[in-house]
Amino acid sequence: MYIRTHRGVSVPIASLILLATCALATMCCSADEPAVFSPPSQGGALAPRGHFVESNGAALYRAICQGCHMPDARGARGAGMYPALAANPKLASAAYPTLTVLQGRRGMPGFSDSLSDDQVAEVVNYVRSHFGNNFTDRVASGDVARLRAPLP
Ligand code: HEC
Repeated sequence: MYIRTHRGVSVPIASLILLATCALATMCCSADEPAVFSPPSQGGALAPRGHFVESNGAALYRAICQGCHMPDARGARGAGMYPALAANPKLASAAYPTLTVLQGRRGMPGFSDSLSDDQVAEVVNYVRSHFGNNFTDRVASGDVARLRAPLP
């Protein structure tokens, strides 16, 4: 299909749509926003309903967290600030990392839609007991379920 411009030139509508889309894309992407989450490239596998298939903490850490927090959990600075989870006293309260994984925190996306209660508990227990963290109290999936529930 063609439309006639004011100069009498016929332009295919498809190319106009393409132009508009490009202009929009440029506008959206040039904003100086913190990086949005893109699916982990290190082999994180998404099961049909957007759920990660990994079930143990180490595998979940590798699939999701290490892309930002680094394999050694020492974090990174560059285009953004990715805090170290290694030897991090803020992990003393189990609720803090649990809520962070569920809801996200500023530049970090939340994973409540893509991780089950068990998976959240596993990955939180993993970081709280590795990388120089020695917190021995474990998060149970019931704890995650309680934190996931909206406040009354
Ligand atoms: C897309 C990058 C990204 C991914 C993936 C990610 N995080 Fe984060 N995380 C961040 C950023 C950025 C922050 C800092 C947020 C802020 O501004 O306070 C953060 C903060 C945290 C904190 C709080 C640290 C502190 O000192 O306050 C914890 C705990 C945490 N992440 C755990 C995890 C776990 C566990 C995973 C995997 C399930 C994970 N993160 C996946 C980017 C990410």
